[in-house]
Amino acid sequence: MQTIYHLNLNAAQLEGAKTVILPGDPARVEKIAQTAPFTNGRLLAQKREYTSWLTYLENTPVVVMSTGIGGPSLGIAVEELAMLGIKTMVRVGTCGAIQAHIHPGEVIITSGAVRLEGTSTHYAPIEYPAVAHHEVVTSLIEGAKQAKVAYHVGITCSSDSFYPGQERYDSYTKYVPKRFQGSTEEWRQLHVLNYEMEAATLLTLCSAMGLRAGCVCGAVVNRTRSEAVAAETLLAGEKNSVQTVVQGVAHLLRAER
Ligand code: URA
Repeated sequence: MQTIYHLNLNAAQLEGAKTVILPGDPARVEKIAQTAPFTNGRLLAQKREYTSWLTYLENTPVVVMSTGIGGPSLGIAVEELAMLGIKTMVRVGTCGAIQAHIHPGEVIITSGAVRLEGTSTHYAPIEYPAVAHHEVVTSLIEGAKQAKVAYHVGITCSSDSFYPGQERYDSYTKYVPKRFQGSTEEWRQLHVLNYEMEAATLLTLCSAMGLRAGCVCGAVVNRTRSEAVAAETLLAGEKNSVQTVVQGVAHLLRAER
């Protein structure tokens, strides 16, 4: 059977899997696929930023695949996974919290996302909302409770850039274009919880395609206090978001049996 272009996968390899977990980082794929209650995980393919594993929740196959950073590469992943029969896509990643009450290590479950990116505009006009599917949101909340991880639910801002779009001044030029100066305070006033780079693309594309999607990210920095990401908060944010997504997807699949 021919493999699909970018992912180097074919439908037979997925063994009928309908659900995918999507970290950005290829190095997180194996860890997720081998986290209990998932068992018997194995590598399927590796091409560019896309590393895929197949794992199982009590005989139900689940794909875990990295998307790389940002909307364009995630958009390709969504298109090609949909063509291979995937119906539910759950992103797991890291983010910068912009509300003072959210502590590094806690997780944020996205209910909807600000589309501060370009890829989703190729699929739906900007008036179209980037919203998570309610069943995925509910399952991620259950996952966080099961994993005993502190969680927040709300709006995420997905930016096409890590530096200017997230109003970071610790960049090469230290300059943030006028368009973004003061933008973090504005998002904060509008009760946006966090910055990351992929949720809006995922949620818009999946809604537009009639698929279910959701997103959980571990906060690795609180932007009201710092711009830099410290190693220990990165570890805590990764660990807690992985536990939440694994327990959340297990809850979603068990509820459907
Ligand atoms: N990822 C982001 O996009 N922003 C952060 O601040 C941390 C992780």
